[in-house]
Amino acid sequence: MTRRSVLTGTGSALPKRAVSNAEMAKMVDTSDEWIAERTGIRNRYFAGPDENTATLATDAARRALEAAGLQGKDIGLIILATATPNNTFPATATQVQHALGANGGIAFDVAAVCSGFLYALGIADSMLRTGMAEKALVIGSETFSRILDFEDRATCVLFGDGAGAIVLEARDVAEDGPGVLFTKLHADGEHCDLLYVDGGPSTTQTVGHVRMKGREVFRHAVTNLADVLKETLEGTGFTADDVAWVVPHQANQRIIDATARKLGLSPDRVVLTVDQHANTSAASVPLALDTAVRDGRIKPGELIVLEAMGGGFTWGASLIRV
Ligand code: UT7
Repeated sequence: MTRRSVLTGTGSALPKRAVSNAEMAKMVDTSDEWIAERTGIRNRYFAGPDENTATLATDAARRALEAAGLQGKDIGLIILATATPNNTFPATATQVQHALGANGGIAFDVAAVCSGFLYALGIADSMLRTGMAEKALVIGSETFSRILDFEDRATCVLFGDGAGAIVLEARDVAEDGPGVLFTKLHADGEHCDLLYVDGGPSTTQTVGHVRMKGREVFRHAVTNLADVLKETLEGTGFTADDVAWVVPHQANQRIIDATARKLGLSPDRVVLTVDQHANTSAASVPLALDTAVRDGRIKPGELIVLEAMGGGFTWGASLIRV
């Protein structure tokens, strides 16, 4: 038997307002054709005044708890990945903890932008396996629409809002049983000026807007993601053929396709939601995961790999038996 963090529930939440490419074309000089062809995006959701990172995270977490057959009071650890917290502090995780009635356990935010969920998952797995908690909620939640510059067509068409959550439970399982098998994380601060927000409490005292050199980010994303997926397979002795589903960060369909091609992974084993949700940063992987669990694509016992890359740069991958 071996102690593992077992995935026992998934959930997600989207704002009420859906925004099509045609609607974006009324705001900036763009078109449905350009956005769909360059990115695969057809739709995104933007939070309204009564929705924010904490409310979306709470809704996603409630659904994940329900799927796991648990209540808020059962949860001893909440890690929330976000680049768009409700406030500079306290951590949005503490607001979610209170809303769920999970008071008293551990709760904190993680900032690794689009890789945030992978970072949060890696930390939660370590904490569960070392006994710091028994049951954890790992959440990615974002309201990126609040930091978009709606005069910059090169960035504002790419992002959306949403949240995804998973429940992890520490269990003793057989070697070939379920759980998080391996997580690999990386960062390279040399490239922090290729994708960033031009504001913050310690510099401008403003929230700032997303800035990105898209073409360079694209190039690094394909290389880094293919490398970390290779490392993950090599680290566990599995091959690409053993993986039932890849659940990638949903930034751009062309990045997802190019990465899969580099690894010889068939596109019909890749979960794609970028068309519906656009890039929801830290929420994108758990949103895609919940979509594929609920529609029956991902089945118990299967081997899945999650991967993401984002500002910093940060990137990572995690291999899980569900
Ligand atoms: O979440 C993690 C990180 N983010 C990413 O992974 C994003 C990575 N990058 C990308 O996905 C792509 O680079 C973009 C989708 C951002 C851009 O696609 P691209 O094929 O690299 O286009 P480009 O930036 O080279 O721009 C091509 C042309 C330019 O016009 P000129 O200079 O060729 O005349 C842009 O001005 O497309 C123009 N353009 C647009 N046209 C219509 C840029 N944005 C738009 C737009 N609508 N929204």
